[in-house]
Amino acid sequence: MRTIDWDNDRDCIEMVDQTKLPAEYTTYHAETVPELVESIEILRVRGAPALGAAGAFGVALAARRTDADTVEAFEEAVREDAGTIAGARPTAVNLSREVEAVLRELRGCRSVEEARRRTLSAAKDIADADVERNRQIGEHGAELLSADGTVMTHCNAGALATVDWGTALGVVYSAHEQGKEIDVVANETRPLNQGSRITTVELQERDVPVRLIPDNASGLCMQRGMVDAVVVGADRVVLEGGEAFTPRHGSGDDGAGQGAVFNKIGTYKHAVLADRHDIPFVVAAPHSTVDTELSATEVEIEQRDPGELREIYGEQNAPADVSVFNPAFDPTPMELVDYLVTETGVYEPPLDRRDFERVSTPESE
Ligand code: MRU
Repeated sequence: MRTIDWDNDRDCIEMVDQTKLPAEYTTYHAETVPELVESIEILRVRGAPALGAAGAFGVALAARRTDADTVEAFEEAVREDAGTIAGARPTAVNLSREVEAVLRELRGCRSVEEARRRTLSAAKDIADADVERNRQIGEHGAELLSADGTVMTHCNAGALATVDWGTALGVVYSAHEQGKEIDVVANETRPLNQGSRITTVELQERDVPVRLIPDNASGLCMQRGMVDAVVVGADRVVLEGGEAFTPRHGSGDDGAGQGAVFNKIGTYKHAVLADRHDIPFVVAAPHSTVDTELSATEVEIEQRDPGELREIYGEQNAPADVSVFNPAFDPTPMELVDYLVTETGVYEPPLDRRDFERVSTPESE
């Protein structure tokens, strides 16, 4: 099944419950907006594109659960719920972006029924488009991989981080489908272990050989020549002007080449190591993850609960009152990125933000 979808029979959102992996592969039904918001916060559904679909379906859910006497009151209530959903996790741009996209469907609706129909239909289209896009990312990215080799990945940017197929792992799956003999080194990805709990499960299911390593072993693996490419996803790719970073491949004009890739905490460290060892560092993400509006310093990095470090699976791991810094993401400067793979092709920095700027139409405003 898809990672997240609309359950027509129960008229609510169905998702794979990723908090239960790897022990159990079960689904969870979010029947209400608070249940969806909780699911996003505890990472029952996670990964930027899957969060985008969650946001889109969330607006449809809000439209179906809201009772109001007038279209105006209905719209106000749906917008309030939409704001709560969009704010559930701040770093992945896809969440707020797809919430906004479905909210635009409310414009000009003459009845609550029409609004319910249109929001659900738009959310389903967003989910379908994600799968299509990931296939394209996979095809483009696979061109970068040779006939055999080892890809290191961090966190999980696979089928379970998207509606289906994945971005970074989509590249691996497409290469695998083409007959390339690719195996994967999966970083465990402390503290929530998306690498060990999710990436390994996905890869094994698809018969892609995978070896799990603790995050701290990535340098040793690179030193020993065990890695041919590092391929990761992204929660937000910021392209900005200014002099924030000097692109490794020469500077472009008009601020081209500046920016950073926000992805799971630790990505930056692996990018630095890849640079040290001359290993290509590849980011695979759809255009909907690219942000040409904010600068890297303006992006909010989500801070997670200290309990994620003070305890491991309910067992004490540190003094209960120890001070904790637990950021969920870090920015990797664009100068460390060798390739950005999107649904429209492979880009080499310096990236020209004009290739990624959203065309503003009355419908998209
Ligand atoms: O905290 P998570 O598990 O939502 O973090 C996910 C990641 O960092 C992924 O690499 C990113 O969202 C890209 S998913 C295709």
